[in-house]
Amino acid sequence: MPRARDLRAAIAEPVGRKPDPRLPLLTCAGLARTFGTGATAVVAVYDVTLTVARRARVALTGPSGSGKSTLLHMMAGLETPTAGQLSWPGLGGHPLRYPGRVGIVFQGPSLLPALTVAENVSLPLLLAEATPSDATRAARNALELLDIGDLHASLPEELSGGQAQRVALARVLAARPALILADEPTGQLDHATGFAVIDVLLAACDELDAALIVSTHDPVVAAHLSQQWTMRDGTLRPEHGNLRPEHGTDLSAGAGR
Ligand SMILES: Nc1ncnc2c1ncn2[C@@H]1O[C@H](COP(=O)(O)OP(=O)(O)OP(=O)(O)O)[C@@H](O)[C@H]1O
Ligand SMILES: [Mg+2]
Repeated sequence: MPRARDLRAAIAEPVGRKPDPRLPLLTCAGLARTFGTGATAVVAVYDVTLTVARRARVALTGPSGSGKSTLLHMMAGLETPTAGQLSWPGLGGHPLRYPGRVGIVFQGPSLLPALTVAENVSLPLLLAEATPSDATRAARNALELLDIGDLHASLPEELSGGQAQRVALARVLAARPALILADEPTGQLDHATGFAVIDVLLAACDELDAALIVSTHDPVVAAHLSQQWTMRDGTLRPEHGNLRPEHGTDLSAGAGR
């Protein structure tokens, strides 16, 4: 988990700007994250340079341990880079200052065990100062969208892994973010449900005018997204003509190793 001290320092940057729709949502240059120091240091992400355009639809693939989750956590502002620049010009500033503008679906379990499904989904809205009735309505709608409305009163321990994954997705969609980062959101779903979830995600992003980055090990899921980013050994590599400058996404990825 990111250290609170690092995060406080990261969001202490002067911000307060309104999101500027002419600017890309996120840019980073030479981005790196090393865990630990000395002989045991692990270079999780290395020299990543990219821009996330508005309405981008990106599949992030790569072998296990190649740095996908670490990169997504940095994009969400939850992990502090150890080198490089990262900013969110089209979102007005660091995501932790503006809850709701970036939504992340974590790869692992992330629901609060003492809260019901509906309470888990509505909590971020309440923290962002929505009224209880608005939060409840948005949570119900998002759960219905993912076909799990009947689970609203269940506790996380009563859910299957795939159901919990869909609740986590509903929690993100209910907040209507401008950038959605989904870390293997179909990893615990059967193929049919996985495709249904990706279709819901894509439709929700269209409706929200949001950008979407989905990390996945499933090439069929990846093919549903219009852009493909591949990580190898912590760095991002354009492959097979993936560069799509017409979509405004720069995939130049540094020298690699
Ligand atoms: N908090 C941490 N402390 C130490 N090492 C870490 C930490 N988080 C990630 N790593 C290491 O960084 C590397 C990249 O991990 P990451 O989880 O980003 O990979 P990934 O591409 O998401 O893998 P997977 O496909 O299995 O989810 C791995 O070697 C991992 O062991
Ligand atoms: Mg991962």
